[in-house]
Amino acid sequence: MTWANDTLSVGELAQRVPAGHERFLLGIAGPPGAGKSTLAQLLCRALIDAARPAVVAPMDGYHLRNEVLLARNALARKGEPDTFDAASFIADLRLLRETPVGVAVPWPLFDRRIDEPTEAGVIVRDERIALVEGNYLLLTDDEAPGWAEVRGLLDACWYLDAPRPVLTERLLHRHIVGGRTPDQASAKVAGSDLRNADLIAASRHRADLVLTAAGRGYREN
Ligand SMILES: Nc1ncnc2c1ncn2[C@@H]1O[C@H](COP(=O)(O)OP(=O)(O)OP(=O)(O)O)[C@@H](O)[C@H]1O
Ligand SMILES: [Mg+2]
Repeated sequence: MTWANDTLSVGELAQRVPAGHERFLLGIAGPPGAGKSTLAQLLCRALIDAARPAVVAPMDGYHLRNEVLLARNALARKGEPDTFDAASFIADLRLLRETPVGVAVPWPLFDRRIDEPTEAGVIVRDERIALVEGNYLLLTDDEAPGWAEVRGLLDACWYLDAPRPVLTERLLHRHIVGGRTPDQASAKVAGSDLRNADLIAASRHRADLVLTAAGRGYREN
């Protein structure tokens, strides 16, 4: 069902994911707080409902551990491109591409409650569609060293956008719920999150499809 001229339901978006591949890696890029994880989960469920086994393989699980960030004096910058283990993410994307369907590939997740990654948080095995969601899927090495190989390992990459005031409000809310004071939350959003959002926005034109949430669906931009 289509709600407005150009508004797609998640079910319609699921139909945009090509069939017939041994394993299809679909990236969902976008700024922090855009709703990538939410879209990936909804899309995953819609694909499974359509008898197309899918799994979410987020980039978030490649966050460096807090003790590593602390040792590098980078804990306050957590979330910026160099606070992730991009090399391991790229190696695991390659493994996911090269491993036959039916053979297990462990994939880390990020646990927001403890603010740390969990090794083998999900096991990819029989799923022919992997939804790879995260911030830094479309960057060049000029924009952030070490990330450029990601795009070539994805079969397609979508971009989920959201207006800056929406991002700001969601990120402030998240940081306050996570234990920061309003002032600390504002400082993190202005000094780090929105700078990351600007870097990511510069990569938007490389996406195969750009979406913005609209009501219960998503509008194609
Ligand atoms: N379509 C939507 N409509 C309204 N709210 C939404 C929508 N999608 C996501 N949200 C809300 O926005 C917030 C951020 O969503 P989500 O965690 O999916 O974003 P994200 O892009 O994965 O963020 P991050 O990059 O930080 O992981 C959540 O509170 C979520 O409930
Ligand atoms: Mg997320």
